[in-house]
This record gives sequence, structure tokens and C-alpha cells, in this order.
Amino acid sequence: MLADAAKSRIAYNRRSLEQPPHFAASQMISKDALDAHAARRNALLAAMGEGIALIPTSPEATRNRDSLYPFRHDSYFYYLTGFAEPEAVLVLVAGKSPRTILFCREKNLEREIWDGYRHGPEGARATFGFDEAQPIAGLEAALPQMLSDQPSIYTFVGADPVWNGKISAALNGVRALARTGVSAPSVVHDARALLDAQRLLKDDQEVALMRRAGEISSLAHIRAMERTRPGQFEYQVEAELLHEFVRFGAREQAYSAIVASGANACVLHYRENNRQMADGDLLLIDAGCEFSSYASDITRTFPVNGKFTGPQKAVYELVLEAQQQCIDQVKPGKPFNAYHETAVNVLAQGLIDLGLCTGSLAAVIETKAYSQFYMHRAGHWLGLDVHDAGDYRIGGSTGHWQTLAPGMVLTVEPGLYIRPADNVPEKFHNIGVRIEDDILITAAGNENLTARTPKSVADVEAACRR
Ligand code: GLY
Ligand code: MN
Ligand code: MN
Repeated sequence: MLADAAKSRIAYNRRSLEQPPHFAASQMISKDALDAHAARRNALLAAMGEGIALIPTSPEATRNRDSLYPFRHDSYFYYLTGFAEPEAVLVLVAGKSPRTILFCREKNLEREIWDGYRHGPEGARATFGFDEAQPIAGLEAALPQMLSDQPSIYTFVGADPVWNGKISAALNGVRALARTGVSAPSVVHDARALLDAQRLLKDDQEVALMRRAGEISSLAHIRAMERTRPGQFEYQVEAELLHEFVRFGAREQAYSAIVASGANACVLHYRENNRQMADGDLLLIDAGCEFSSYASDITRTFPVNGKFTGPQKAVYELVLEAQQQCIDQVKPGKPFNAYHETAVNVLAQGLIDLGLCTGSLAAVIETKAYSQFYMHRAGHWLGLDVHDAGDYRIGGSTGHWQTLAPGMVLTVEPGLYIRPADNVPEKFHNIGVRIEDDILITAAGNENLTARTPKSVADVEAACRR
């Protein structure tokens, strides 16, 4: 049984989450959210100084015949607009009198009867606070004029051939006007360089959404612990995760859930989720919802029958110790890589103590002997994308690691994956353990956005037995 305090904490959190979401993923867009999107546009305009930014949303993609893949807006475009419809381009004109213009689909009664609401240019301008809005059908004709006499373009360079073609055509359109005295932009910048730096530091709106995404995903992992039993198939547990995401308004996953039992836990990007789980297996679940476009990313590992075996517990407690020491390294002023180094140190020493690596700690690290069991990095930026925007090093691979600062969000996810091998005692065969939380860096240190997910051996076993 869970300790009473822990039980009431989960019950309380469940009740508070049942309230209608403050940030409904619908037409209701809060004033604070709109202000945040406008502030981000202003920050980009200021960083540009001069020039014109052309930021398209994602293209739609055909799945088969007349069926499309579910549309997901481009994260940079959405960051700057909050506008979730396809076929839209944001134009920002920097300089002495900055202007923001949205190109989007026109209203269309027939399409709205079949497919749903469209804001239309005037509705989008009024709702989202752009200076102007125009029909997307007029973009190509309008661009040469808009680019005329601009010194530079900020856009996505090399991301999409269709978009590249439109930029080339627009540039050639301005060049064709040269005899009228206009000049074409002579520089094309990748807008992502400026936007990545912006997106790395989350504002209050983003933090609120990420906190909620983390809470919902925590509840999903708790539900999985509560409902998993030997004999079930992995996809039955996946269904429990999805149930919890969707009922709290998180209609998408931030990535495909990994529900990996037994030996599957040693496949880092396992996706089949179709094995029947046996008594005595561990189950590694790496799953996170996307809530109002923001990702969460949690991994927990627990025994299918609710009780760790001795060797499973030994490996689990080593990964947990590494994860806790890593989280302590995530605070303002620390280089990004510090917590990865901590993971390597703690895991390497633990592997020596368990007899899985031999030699001194320095030698195990120097020769990378530990990488037989720990072969990935300790985490990544998290935000609109699960592997979010932002440089890890300043100045490229020979530069220095990013210095952690309040507002950054990252995952902390050390793990050990012990495949059968000649140098591995059988009792450890096929044990795969990862523990992953989402950490916001604050002025005082950090806040674990996914702290509600049971993690100690006692809490995990208690949640499994409920
Ligand atoms: N689930 C993807 C990752 O943990 O990075
Ligand atoms: Mn993950
Ligand atoms: Mn991750």
C-alpha cells in the first residue's frame, strides 16, 4: 500500500487535474497566451534589427489517397503566432516601423462544413493581434514587393524543397524589378539561429503548459503502474497511457510511447509494443503527452508483478542514484554537460561494484567500458519539441557547453541496458532500466515538473500494488 500521505497526494492531484484545462486546446485562446506570442514576435524583430522574416507553418502530408497525416503546426511558427491552422506564413518586417503580417486560408463555408472552423485573415488578425492579415493564395504575388529593398531575409534555410522554391522565386521576382530601381535582399539567414536561442528560455506561459504536460504524463505513468499485470500485452499498457493523456486534453503524444518489457527494455527506441509480459519481467515505459503543443518526456521502469527481484533492484537503485545526483547538477551556472559527466561517473562506479565492469573508475571511464551498458547521453532540451531547439555547445563542437540558466527545461534520463554477453552474469541478463524526469531550471536551482511520478523502489512497488 502507498503511504497514506502519498495516496492522498495522488488523489488530490487527480481531482485538481479534473478541472477544465486553463489553456484549452480549442478556439479559446487566453489573453496572457496571446500577449506571450506577441512578445516573442517583438523579441525576434528586435534581434533581427532589420530585414524581413518569412516563417511558414508545416506543410500538410498525404497519408494515402485523400487521407492526410494528422496536421501538426511547425513549432517555430506556432511559438510566434499561437495559430494552429495549416497553410499559413508569418511575415515580420523589422526596422524603424516593424510590422507583423499573417498570410492564412480564407474563410470557406463549404470547407468549414466538411472540415471545421477557419479564422480567415480578418478573424486571425483580430483574434491573434497581427498588424495585417492577407489570404495565403496571394503570398507568392505579394512577396517580390515585400522583399524589395529589404537587406536580408530570415527564413528556414534548406528545410523544405517546396518552401526553398518559393523563396528562390520571390528573390527572382525582386531581381526582375531591378530596372525600376529596387534592390533584392543580398543575405538569407536561417531564422532558426535566432529562434533557437529564444526558445531555449521558456517564458511563464510555456512553463505553465509544460508543468501541466508533466502532471498529465505523471498520472499516465501512475495508471500504468496500477494496471499492469503479468500476462498482459505491452499495447494494453500503452492503451492505459493514452487513455490518461486524452482524458486530460492531451490529444497527442510528444513521441511514440515505448512500452518495453523484458529484453525489449534493452532496445533503446523499441516501438513494437506487442510482447506478452511475463511474471518476473521489468517494464520500461518511456511516454509523454503533448499538451497545448508542449512536450513532456517521462521514463519509469517497474516490475510487471509489482516486486523487484534482487538483481533488478540493484540495477534500479544504481540508476536512481545516478539520476538523483544528475538532477543536483542541473542548476544555474552549471555547464550543460555536467550532469552527463555525473551520470557516467556514478554509473561506471556502480558497474564496477556490481562486477559488470572491471578495473579502476578512471580506466572504465577512459576506455568507455561502461558504454556496453550505458550508451546514450543523460538528457536533452525539452519544449515544443521533445528534443527541443537550442544549442548544446556555443561555438560548435570545439566550443564550450551551454551554461544552464533559469527558464531552460531539460530531461534527466540515465539508464543501464544489460544484454546477455560473456562478461555478464546471467542474473543480470536483459535488465533494462531508465529513469527520466523533466527539469525546469529556476533561480533557486530547479523544479522537477514530473516529480509526482513514483520513483523510489518503495513508491513504485506501492503504486504497482494499488
Ligand atoms: N523519448 C525520447 C527521449 O527520451 O529522448
Ligand atoms: Mn523519453
Ligand atoms: Mn528524453
